[in-house]
Amino acid sequence: MCGIFGCIVNEGEVAPLIHLALKRLEYRGYDSAGIATVYKGLLFLKKDSGRIDEIHEKLDLNSLPGMIGIGHTRWATHGAPNMENAHPHTDCTGKIAIAHNGIIENYIEIKKSLESKGHIFKSRTDSEVFAHLIEDNIKNNMSFEDSVKQAVKLISGSYAIAAIHADEDKILCVKNESPLIIGISDNGVFCASDIPALLPYTNRVIELFDGEMAILSLRNIKIIRIKDESIVQRYETIIDWSMDMAEKGGFPHFMLKEIYEQPRAIRDALRIDKRLINIASMLIENSDRLFLVACGTSYHACLAISYIFSELSLINAIPCIASEFLKSYAQLVDESTVVIAVSQSGETRDTLTAVKNAKMRGAQIIGVTNVIGSELARISDIYLNMQAGPEIGVAATKTYISQLTLLSLLAINFSHNYGLASENIYRRLLSELYEASVIIEKYLRRIDNEAKRIAQVIAPRENVFYLSRGINVASALEGALKLKEISYIHAEGYPAGESKHGPIALVEEGFPCIFITPTGETSVKILGNIMEMKARGAKIISITQDDAHEVKEVSDIFISIESNLSEILTPIIFSPPLQLIAYHTAILRLKDPDKPRNLAKSVTVP
Ligand code: AGP
Ligand code: GLU
Repeated sequence: MCGIFGCIVNEGEVAPLIHLALKRLEYRGYDSAGIATVYKGLLFLKKDSGRIDEIHEKLDLNSLPGMIGIGHTRWATHGAPNMENAHPHTDCTGKIAIAHNGIIENYIEIKKSLESKGHIFKSRTDSEVFAHLIEDNIKNNMSFEDSVKQAVKLISGSYAIAAIHADEDKILCVKNESPLIIGISDNGVFCASDIPALLPYTNRVIELFDGEMAILSLRNIKIIRIKDESIVQRYETIIDWSMDMAEKGGFPHFMLKEIYEQPRAIRDALRIDKRLINIASMLIENSDRLFLVACGTSYHACLAISYIFSELSLINAIPCIASEFLKSYAQLVDESTVVIAVSQSGETRDTLTAVKNAKMRGAQIIGVTNVIGSELARISDIYLNMQAGPEIGVAATKTYISQLTLLSLLAINFSHNYGLASENIYRRLLSELYEASVIIEKYLRRIDNEAKRIAQVIAPRENVFYLSRGINVASALEGALKLKEISYIHAEGYPAGESKHGPIALVEEGFPCIFITPTGETSVKILGNIMEMKARGAKIISITQDDAHEVKEVSDIFISIESNLSEILTPIIFSPPLQLIAYHTAILRLKDPDKPRNLAKSVTVP
């Protein structure tokens, strides 16, 4: 995720406008930034790594000349956050500049083919290929417009791209899956990743849809459908959001916005370079011991994935809370050990301490993080980038789903390459992983209301149990953590089978017990545990799948999800309802879910 902004003005210079817009987009990504402008047939470019203020202090972004320009604030997915990899990227002639948000999945083959034609690449990003593709087409006598149109046909993945050319007075924009909107004012035209960047200049907006290209100039705005080159007629809408609402995409809190971003987070996590997954699988295959190390929510992802390794490959992947690693397992670590370290921020001190200790003992480290320039990414032997974009809410939501997706992909790939999964099982599980994003997309709005009803039951209580069996014990622990973190209600996640060995003593009339219940054999077992709680007066709330009829019958309230995903992938679809329950409970208790007391987004102390 990153921010793009482009504009052409009638009066004045664009650089200060782009600079200000990038500041407003900084919450979408902030590891590097840059601006390119066109002036008198020449392209001017300034870019570097760091926050926009730092870059501006060093380079004076506002001094770029011209009335046409594009800018970018980056959240790296491909290539470290350094000056070379910062956007905009240029072609070999230095006449074309592009800013890209998203992931070009097939960039390696395109890059190879362009290199064989003599193109010289300056960065390690996926994005740069697009500038060279345009250049190549222009060399073949195509117009700027046709060159972009043809270039888009060659790339796959997610993209919002804005492109300029030194000899042209236009900005060309294309879009697939990444956001891009167009703004119009009396002084010019704009394109931007989202509304906050536009609001200081205009509230007149035209949406661009997937598969479309926009040609922006001061004369007119033309939108065409790339597939058949047909002209699209689209009218402007007036946005009446405040700046605060705009930054949150119209949602009242970042947490809710990020919950709604989860279908996309799954798809982006799945865009990982499959060679990295293969290398990680090979490292695991060549090891004798495998640990999954993390804290908090990231630990819950590790716990879930340990079940997939054991079910699909009979591998004992040991999940370990990072702060306990040195005392519990470090002595077992040697050169034949692999540690998968999972950290959204990549800066959690406890996780880094465990990783450094394991490294010192000779272990290979597979880092899984959302921040490419983080310490975890630097000290890992290989790292898998979650590609979820910045998460602002302190409570992890979309990054948990990214972790589950990426780690499931790894465990499934490992099993296919070295374990028990046949080609058929492998293909089915891969398509189910993708399907999970569709399932969530379909149910989110509906279950939001159901989660509100459950929140009304929970909000007045002081204690809640979250119970499940098998892989969804991880979901129970995560559901309880979310509720604790943002609503300050005491919640305990427990294996349902274990609840009769102690916790059940707490249950009395009306005690809320949330059961996470996939269908099949597990549901039959959980049903028994539900009945035990029900017999003691518990209020039974269940998160379940559509065909778990008996579970629904004995529940006081339930959220039912239409899906027949394999049980090992159900933590992905069960998490959003649990997050929404926590969110609405916090709201009912008048707590700010984005800024829970006593917590920090990244815990850099031991
Ligand atoms: C999640 O909601 C919490 N804020 C917290 O448990 C978090 O998951 C933990 O601190 C680990 O952070 P990391 O993933 O950045 O390492
Ligand atoms: N994939 C591009 C890069 O890593 C764009 C990332 C983004 O959307 O910020 O530079």
